[in-house]
Amino acid sequence: MKSTVLCGLLMIGLVSSAGAQLKDRFKDCFRIGAALNQAQFDERDTRGADIVKAQFNTISPENVLKWESVHPKPDGYTFEQADRYVAFGEKNDMFVIGHTLVWHSQTPRWVFEDDKGAPLSREALLERMRGHIQTVVGRYKGRIKGWDVVNEALNEDGTFRQSPWFKIIGEEFIAKAFGFAHEADPDAELYYNDYSLENDAKRNGAIALIKKLQEQGIPVTAVGLQGHDKMESPTIEQQAAAIEAFSRLGIKVNITELDIDVLPAKLNPYPDGLPDSVQQALARRYADLFGVFVKDCGVVSRVTFWGVTDGDSWLNNWPVRGRTAYPLLFDRNGQPKPAFNAVVGVK
Ligand code: G3I
Repeated sequence: MKSTVLCGLLMIGLVSSAGAQLKDRFKDCFRIGAALNQAQFDERDTRGADIVKAQFNTISPENVLKWESVHPKPDGYTFEQADRYVAFGEKNDMFVIGHTLVWHSQTPRWVFEDDKGAPLSREALLERMRGHIQTVVGRYKGRIKGWDVVNEALNEDGTFRQSPWFKIIGEEFIAKAFGFAHEADPDAELYYNDYSLENDAKRNGAIALIKKLQEQGIPVTAVGLQGHDKMESPTIEQQAAAIEAFSRLGIKVNITELDIDVLPAKLNPYPDGLPDSVQQALARRYADLFGVFVKDCGVVSRVTFWGVTDGDSWLNNWPVRGRTAYPLLFDRNGQPKPAFNAVVGVK
């Protein structure tokens, strides 16, 4: 009875786990990380950088390695920020992730057009993709250890998203992207990354896609389940089933962009702070999810949060600009929330 009560208290964060560090807690299970913004890897945000150094052993770039950031013009690459991101990771002995090579979003329009603004031919777009991947992956060969090669290629029903990549090249754009990335750095881990893969239809689409790649001998190291979760979805059963289904393909599963949105869509109900009941519910939700990740220890090889503190989260500006969001483990002052203690208490 006593231990049940203690366990319950830990889960809801009433017992402080002061001094506990995420990366040590989970070191026998999976890497644990965060997506960084520029102020963090430049260490202008010293509080954020300190949290990252203390808690995490892997980092992802929230924006600086996207196509529009590193390759804004046809003949011009801009690597200053990405270089500093990678240097920060190396300096702190972290497993450095690259995000992302081929995506429909944050990719300039010119990528899909010729110099007269007409749609590019299939061959020309493949050549452009090859050049981009060789240049970007090649620059960080041996230093960026894993790449989100293709991001968000599927619709909710599991069919292919009608992106310019798909429309011009066809579904082979995915195999080609993985092939180019493998050529550029044969030792890098290569990932297919997407959201809502816990839903049956989309999950089945991703499984079919990965199977097909495997049949062609394309090396897929892991699937990235982004994990932009809500309080009620995915259910714990869906989360476990998705991990199990992908593991049957013989690949790893990474949780790549974890956050939990406690706010109802389109509203900003808690501008001055999260009520305790919601805070505790968030802690329990995080504990439940980490319970699944830990159970699948070994299959789940990385869990990365999409941001460091609540104040950094993209959810402050989506789906409505200027909301006050509470999706992460550290509050706006950089203090660990009950959710942090709940997560630490899981292992
Ligand atoms: O850098 C400019 C700044 O110069 C300008 O003044 C300002 C005005 O809007 O915009 C700034 O750029 C913003 C950028 O984030 C950096 O803060 C963009 O508007 C904004 O659209 C962009 O949002 C990013 C979003 O991807 C774009 O799709 C978020 O930070 C980033 O967290 C989010 O991350 C994505 C993953 O890559 C893929 N999975 C979903 C995830 C969440 O949407």
